[in-house]
Amino acid sequence: MESGMVRPLIAGNWKMNGLSQSCDTIASIASGLATYDDVADCLICPPATLLSKVVEAASGSRLKTGAQDCHASSSGAHTGDIAAEMIADIGGEYVIIGHSERRADHGETSEMVAAKAEAAFRAGLTPIICIGETLEEREAGRTIEVVSSQLAGSIPASAFGKSFVVAYEPVWAIGTGKVASTGQVEEVHDKIREILGERFPGQADETPILYGGSMKPGNAAELLAVENVDGGLIGGASLKAEDFLAIYAACVTQK
Ligand code: 13P
Repeated sequence: MESGMVRPLIAGNWKMNGLSQSCDTIASIASGLATYDDVADCLICPPATLLSKVVEAASGSRLKTGAQDCHASSSGAHTGDIAAEMIADIGGEYVIIGHSERRADHGETSEMVAAKAEAAFRAGLTPIICIGETLEEREAGRTIEVVSSQLAGSIPASAFGKSFVVAYEPVWAIGTGKVASTGQVEEVHDKIREILGERFPGQADETPILYGGSMKPGNAAELLAVENVDGGLIGGASLKAEDFLAIYAACVTQK
């Protein structure tokens, strides 16, 4: 935290989890949020099948909603894909782009991620651009090189400081229970801020930089206290209202 003007963001990525009944969880998160000071944003990105229902369940509350991916085109012959315009059409405000699971499972390159982020801008959405190194890359001492190159290649030409969010998610910490140490997180987040400063002079402090990877109620306060960590992108712990709200509470307490 303490990176100046950024409003923190606690974002949940439900990945391929959730059926209609999961909207009860949304209702609990939405009503729970009202009990905390309004000093940080809170977001859930459910699977596309639930987005419409989740938007409805969150309406009238501070809970924001988004999707987990979008296509670069606004329409056309792309079976199974979803356009950014479709997400905006049903009330989504954010879209996660370039998650490591999509980079690995669907061969998404940083160039494709940048095109998707442009699509998000075109539709009026805020893209959450994900970057992160594998264990092999970390052990080879290539973390900063990998993350820097993903960041440079994934931010689209028309971006500016406030228009997007960056999420640093070390691949080896996702869903494994292994959390990056505060020192490892600080090193990468400082580097991301430095790169943003070079690319967007005077606007680097306007881009929220989230940490993701096994963030839980028990470790959130420590991770969120690291300089240049402006929030979290939470997988497993976002599926339970109680755990997700506990992480949000840890964020609010820092302010
Ligand atoms: P976990 O919190 O389950 O490790 O997932 C992190 C993540 O990938 C969020 O996008």
